[in-house]
Amino acid sequence: MSSVTMLMLTIFGILVNMALAFIDPTQDANFLPSGHTSAVEFMNMIENRSLVDQRIRPNHNGPPVIVKCQVFISSFGSISEVNMDYSLDFFLRQEWNDPRLQYEGGKQRYITLTSESIKNIWTPPLYFPNEKKGELHTMIIPNKLIRVTPNGTVTYSIRLTLVLSCPMLLTDFPLDTQECALNIESFVYESDDIELQWQPDHSLKNQGVEIPSTVGLAQFKIDDVKVSSRNRSYSRTGSFSSLRAVFHLKRQIGYYLLQTYIPSMLIVILSWVAFWINKEAVPARIALGITTVLTMTTQLTGSRQGVPRVSYPKAMDVWMAACMLFVFLALLEYAVVNVMSTVEKDKQARHRDIETGKKGNKKRDRSSVLAYNKGRGCTAQYVDNCSRIIFPVFFVIFNCAYWAVYTAEFQTMIVDAFNKIKGEE
Ligand SMILES: *[C@@H]1O[C@H](CO)[C@@H](O)[C@H](O)[C@H]1NC(C)=O
Ligand SMILES: *[C@@H]1O[C@H](CO)[C@@H](O)[C@H](O)[C@H]1NC(C)=O
Ligand SMILES: *[C@@H]1O[C@H](CO)[C@@H](O)[C@H](O)[C@H]1NC(C)=O
Repeated sequence: MSSVTMLMLTIFGILVNMALAFIDPTQDANFLPSGHTSAVEFMNMIENRSLVDQRIRPNHNGPPVIVKCQVFISSFGSISEVNMDYSLDFFLRQEWNDPRLQYEGGKQRYITLTSESIKNIWTPPLYFPNEKKGELHTMIIPNKLIRVTPNGTVTYSIRLTLVLSCPMLLTDFPLDTQECALNIESFVYESDDIELQWQPDHSLKNQGVEIPSTVGLAQFKIDDVKVSSRNRSYSRTGSFSSLRAVFHLKRQIGYYLLQTYIPSMLIVILSWVAFWINKEAVPARIALGITTVLTMTTQLTGSRQGVPRVSYPKAMDVWMAACMLFVFLALLEYAVVNVMSTVEKDKQARHRDIETGKKGNKKRDRSSVLAYNKGRGCTAQYVDNCSRIIFPVFFVIFNCAYWAVYTAEFQTMIVDAFNKIKGEE
């Protein structure tokens, strides 16, 4: 091989390397320093209305602007049954593409705008249909984040605290599951102009609503979040794109178990003690009966605190009414026993008087009463003996039925029916 060929090969190699360096896309940026737009130039551009007019939506007269939304929950506020609402503290992140904002990025991934310069670009006019009260945090500066990437994609994040209405059906209270929604809707532009979409985050396995594990509620457990999107039609104004996130909240029963269920259960059991007390001990049995009835009344009043005055019975009311009934029947049972024993004594006395022929002898001894009662079915003692069995048995049956009805499919059936009505609004 001649040295000339070697030289030619070397030169050829160098040329190929140089050509590759030019083609290599990763080195593009190095060759485009002149096209780099500085943040200052960008601000000047968006302030010049003849270049970017924030009054007109992107793709004017074209396809709808796709606004992708994400919600990051920072805290769940109190859920109020009385006001039928709940408060939510969250970041609303919106993302859309505005081709008018394209610039030569060079190496930079995005330009960050200040919260004031947001007024120079177009933003989607959204609102929350089920909001009662809302606040945009402004400490220390308005809590807004705006970023624009070179291809004109705008990321806009704001921090809000809203009080949102949440109609609740309390038939299963306190064994209920509530569904509270967050609705986001376009206020000005119809669905032909703006289309809202949830932006799922696949790495975090959510559908657009992120709830960090640190977010918790005192009385509820967040079971699930369901998101949906649809076009909502209004007869006078048209059809608007709308997003909906529904939080499924399961009430924790622990508080009510300790505060209401167990104490009232113990009172009912206490009322049965009377069946073992001698029926002649009138003050003892009356006192026990009255005390348990009064204690149940106090419990009943306590259980109604913090619960709205709804016109239908709640699960708690059913429980309380049943306990009240058991305690009341236990007291009533003594009235029956007392009357029966008086009648028996009179009958027995008359019987003995006739037998002995000695009228006016009022001495009643217990053994002769028992002898008289022998062989006769329904006596006062027999009623007491039966009550010792019947009352606990019926209370156990009631308990089985109660917990089965309020914790099984039965309740989801009612809730589903209610949701159908709620969904139609
Ligand atoms: C706005 O942009 C137009 C066109 O580039 C230019 O002629 C005009 O001077 C700019 N106005 C301002 C205030 O920068
Ligand atoms: C704009 O660029 C980002 C990455 O910087 C990309 O994710 C996005 O899809 C691009 N959008 C368009 C409309 O080209
Ligand atoms: C809403 O309406 C727009 C245009 O009218 C349509 O493109 C879009 O698919 C609709 N969205 C849903 C969720 O029905």
